[in-house]
Amino acid sequence: MSHQSTYTPGNGFSRWMDERLPIMRLVNDSFVDYPTPRNLNYWWTFGGILTFCLAVQIVTGIVLAMHYVPTTELAFASVEHIMRDVNYGWLIRYVHSNGASMFFIAVYIHMFRGLYYGSYKAPREVLWILGVLIYLLMMATAFFGYVLPWGQMSFWGATVITNLFGAIPLVGESLRTWLWGGFSVGDPTLNRFFSLHYLFPFLIAGVVILHVWALHVSGQGNPAGIEVKDPKKDTIPFTPYATIKDAFGLALFAILFAYFVFYNPNGLGEPDNYIVANPLSTPAHIVPEWYLLPFYAILRAVPDKLGGVVLMFGAIAILFVLPWLDTSKVRSARFRPLFKQFFWIFVAVCIGLGYCGGQSPDKILIAVGDGGFDVTDLSRILTIYYFAHFIILFPVLGLIEKPKPLPESIAASVLPGTRQEKATS
Ligand code: HEM
Repeated sequence: MSHQSTYTPGNGFSRWMDERLPIMRLVNDSFVDYPTPRNLNYWWTFGGILTFCLAVQIVTGIVLAMHYVPTTELAFASVEHIMRDVNYGWLIRYVHSNGASMFFIAVYIHMFRGLYYGSYKAPREVLWILGVLIYLLMMATAFFGYVLPWGQMSFWGATVITNLFGAIPLVGESLRTWLWGGFSVGDPTLNRFFSLHYLFPFLIAGVVILHVWALHVSGQGNPAGIEVKDPKKDTIPFTPYATIKDAFGLALFAILFAYFVFYNPNGLGEPDNYIVANPLSTPAHIVPEWYLLPFYAILRAVPDKLGGVVLMFGAIAILFVLPWLDTSKVRSARFRPLFKQFFWIFVAVCIGLGYCGGQSPDKILIAVGDGGFDVTDLSRILTIYYFAHFIILFPVLGLIEKPKPLPESIAASVLPGTRQEKATS
């Protein structure tokens, strides 16, 4: 929803500047007077929270890089040096390592919000696709970052993931050697992962700018999933309403963040990563960080290595085409009774995949005779559901479901006396 500029320069300098570089006009029209749907709930504060997370990761990361040494000889020791000798080094490191987890908590909430309210549907397809691209870049960045402390999990995680590329027919072997810069994960690998880990957050920042630009062209979605009809009634200015709401959401998020940093800084980490990397000793369980576990479960669910790799990447790739798989005319799950139930099943499936990814694949869940139903069996069922949800349910639900009547307008969905939405739910 591109809107007319409402900016009027307040003094001579602003007028002079506005004719040369209208940056204050841009800020005003995007973040002050920007017409925001009046019915946004707290799930809409996560975009701002994510911007905060990205800034925190970049600032703390730059400081860490001042003391970190990207060689296999010194990486582990340099991290210990940061923790013990650098002033507030422990704080900066814990904010950065827990910041990665917080970033993923926020991005998953942001993505599931999009899935629930149908934010990916027209006219927001490009906005959604840019989001998926950001998510891919985030996963790559997190993976590179996890290798840097050069603990056991860093080394073995890097070995498992880079070896996956070896499964690609014909070029796999050469590709793997090229990625490693040698014949195993070693010095050149660590060095290039450091370089890329430093670069990628800036790429993410670039794509975020496009993401927010696309948002401002199509206009924000909203929980009712209907478009603005009368801007006077349906929208409110971004500042102060959305700014204050975003700030409050961010404050609550910061409390959770602070809990991890100050009270449980290694709670989300893996103890094995406090053992220096040893290529001669493979840990009993090689597991990625929690936020990558669902994909790890999909990878391991397939007996064939190449098949596993294809399905794992497919699980992300399918997100790019969601806008075209969903056939429903109605966006928000509030008015889609069937879709809403399957949404929660899907959430449970993703959590289940995360659980499977963290367990040993042959762990028996239901004992039957000598064998039984194990983690791999569960991963297979959940993987099938994951894909079926998008490939089968998305198109079919839109055709068979009878949506509830939509509210007359955004204003009608929230203003007292006109709470149609309540009456119909
Ligand atoms: C660094 C990561 C990200 C940042 C900083 C970011 C930022 C934002 C901001 C500021 C908004 C507007 C406020 C809001 O709706 O919460 C937004 C909206 C949106 N984002 Fe993101 N985003 C990120 C990642 C993602 C990802 C990974 C996806 C999806 C895969 C995504 C999909 C969307 C969609 C569909 C909307 C529009 C929602 C609506 O208005 O209905 N974003 N994003």
